[in-house]
Amino acid sequence: MKKIKTLILCTGNSCRSQVNTMKKARCMTDMFFLQVTLFLIGATIIDAQEKYFNTFAADGSMYIGVDYYPEHWPEERWEYDIQLMNQAGFNVVRLAEFSWAKLEPREGEFDFAWLDKVMSLFAKYHINVILGTPTAVMPAWCARKYPETLAMKADGTRIVWGGRKNNCFSNGTYRLLSERITRALAERYKDAPNLVGWQTDNEFGGTDCRCHQCQNEFQDWLRCKYFTLDELNRAWGTHFWGLTFFTWGEIPIPDDREGSTWAISNPSASLDWMRFTSWLNVRFQDDQIRILRALCPDKFITHNFMGLYQNMDYYALAKNLDVVSWDNYPTFGDAEQMQIPYSSSFAADVMRGLKRQNFWIMEQTAGPHGWATFGRNIRPGELEKICFQQLAHGADAQIWFRWRTCTVGREQYWHGLLGHDGKPLRRYQEAVQTAKDYRKLEKALAGTTVKSDIAFIYDYDSMWALRIQPGYPGNAYQTAISRYYNACFRTGVNADMIPPGADFSQYKIIFAPDLYILPDEVAIRLDKFVRDGGILVADCRFGVKDETGLAHERTLPGLLAETLGIRIEEYESLPAKLNYVVAGELGTFSAIQYADWVMADNAKIMVQYTQPWHMTSFAAVTKNLYGKGQGWYIGTVFEKTNFYDQLVARLLEAAHIRPLVVPPVGVEVSFREGVGKRLLFIINHTDEHKVVTIPSGKHELLSDTVTTDQIDLDQYGVVVIKL
Ligand code: GAL
Repeated sequence: MKKIKTLILCTGNSCRSQVNTMKKARCMTDMFFLQVTLFLIGATIIDAQEKYFNTFAADGSMYIGVDYYPEHWPEERWEYDIQLMNQAGFNVVRLAEFSWAKLEPREGEFDFAWLDKVMSLFAKYHINVILGTPTAVMPAWCARKYPETLAMKADGTRIVWGGRKNNCFSNGTYRLLSERITRALAERYKDAPNLVGWQTDNEFGGTDCRCHQCQNEFQDWLRCKYFTLDELNRAWGTHFWGLTFFTWGEIPIPDDREGSTWAISNPSASLDWMRFTSWLNVRFQDDQIRILRALCPDKFITHNFMGLYQNMDYYALAKNLDVVSWDNYPTFGDAEQMQIPYSSSFAADVMRGLKRQNFWIMEQTAGPHGWATFGRNIRPGELEKICFQQLAHGADAQIWFRWRTCTVGREQYWHGLLGHDGKPLRRYQEAVQTAKDYRKLEKALAGTTVKSDIAFIYDYDSMWALRIQPGYPGNAYQTAISRYYNACFRTGVNADMIPPGADFSQYKIIFAPDLYILPDEVAIRLDKFVRDGGILVADCRFGVKDETGLAHERTLPGLLAETLGIRIEEYESLPAKLNYVVAGELGTFSAIQYADWVMADNAKIMVQYTQPWHMTSFAAVTKNLYGKGQGWYIGTVFEKTNFYDQLVARLLEAAHIRPLVVPPVGVEVSFREGVGKRLLFIINHTDEHKVVTIPSGKHELLSDTVTTDQIDLDQYGVVVIKL
């Protein structure tokens, strides 16, 4: 692991004076230069480990365990809990990520006695520890003494202390206090024999703080980005409505709230605000990473991401970490309706794509959950099935949230493996069984990951720009991706999620749904991808804007006109009750929500409008043979999923991708591969019995049997076959 120097190392004694000095400094305008320097130096010295991070433990075992909160239970209970974890075959726990008030009960005074004791008890039972930096909840003394550390709401009042994630990320005091507790923890536990890694904070989630400090920092950030006001005015198109800035200090915080009287109606400004607030979180994390790397160079650093969460640029948040981990709650919210958990699969692929490497599950659903009310329970067998879905997509560690259901506080209904009664009942027993099954796979899994011929461009700029201006009602970035992604899932092929800057050449098919922000450089690489033999699928609102959020001046699809062989001179959004009818080689369908009036210049029309009359000369779906590849354009939204199934089947055929196993409805098929290894995962997401046709004569690893050409899957059944 790379050794690095710490920029701001703040010890307990000197911290208070540093806090005061920094507070003053941060009021000064020349703070800007300090920020630039910190940003530039920081960016160069805290790269993640240079080597591919080995997500397994040193002895080759997978990390399996729970999130444990010793501070919620009497000390006399700890050892019993740990014994139960040990009997379950667990070898890791995450601790302390909400314990700042207990670790630093008074400013600058630390109490580690309880954590020392817990750490050594875990060591006694050979259980490793990941420590969380506890900065997601500030102690009451912080809010009392430094009220400016609390985030400010849009109405100019500060958030009332009493919840979590309530700090301002620009606030210098908060940053220093966070550095101090991080440093104190790292110094205390750097040599603890069972400490294996760190989790930064908890679920970074953007920030909505609207204080003057955030505004000042936003202005500084813009200066770093645009250098001159002329350039900013051009990039944001501020000549519209005469909203030109004459000094940096005039730039306000954009406000897009629906109905807000004072909204700055400038999509480019709002897009930069999203980028800026995301960056504030990344910088806050980097402050901690610098300290942890300097003091604990042999421990890994992760953060618990939230899968499909939208308010952060997760690529940037992942960059300086060793491994991404995430919190998977597939039975929460809408998913409680027993649907196929497409979105957990989608999220897992996003997580794997952030660093192009396997990831961890840091919080896995363990029971019914909710705050004021709670949802359905995990059915017998479902707990293992939920874990295996993630494993199949590249999760190399499995940690359940949480060990025991809490008897106090906001999460009394967020059930753990154990209930309030603390007894090791069904859910615990299922976790024991899951851990046993994981252990059977360890050797086969080592060195494997998901490899795919198919990629989706997953782009935060387009996601944010479409949130600011969806274009047509109901348009949402992830929904657009899901239409195609779910069809791939149903076909039994894996897909990668990649940023627009990724190397496209390793893929046969690239889907770019709703790729609204299209810098010329990306367009040129997509064109090359097709010329070189790739298949590109673009759809509605593709390439409308440049990276500053200004509409391209070219006729759509702009630089890709030749690649796709089409022209779009007009388009429209369709009101809720207006459906158009389309028909062609792929069938007859109902088109909803949006219609590009696609003129097929060179492209072949695959589906055409048949109604209403004024649309009949336009195409809904086109295919263009271009160079050695194909450019497909889907100019509308199809009401039913059968269109997307037809489309994906066609594309796979064109790319010579033949799914090895065709899954019945509700069954998921996924592959992990390594040198000389290929593992096939088949997962029954339903509570019905399913029969799947599979290759015969292969080794099924969980039952240790040889396959015939069919396999029976009970409700929530999983199999792992070595091909
Ligand atoms: C996660 C969070 C945990 C816990 C859990 C249940 O999002 O990281 O701390 O709050 O949700 O609410």
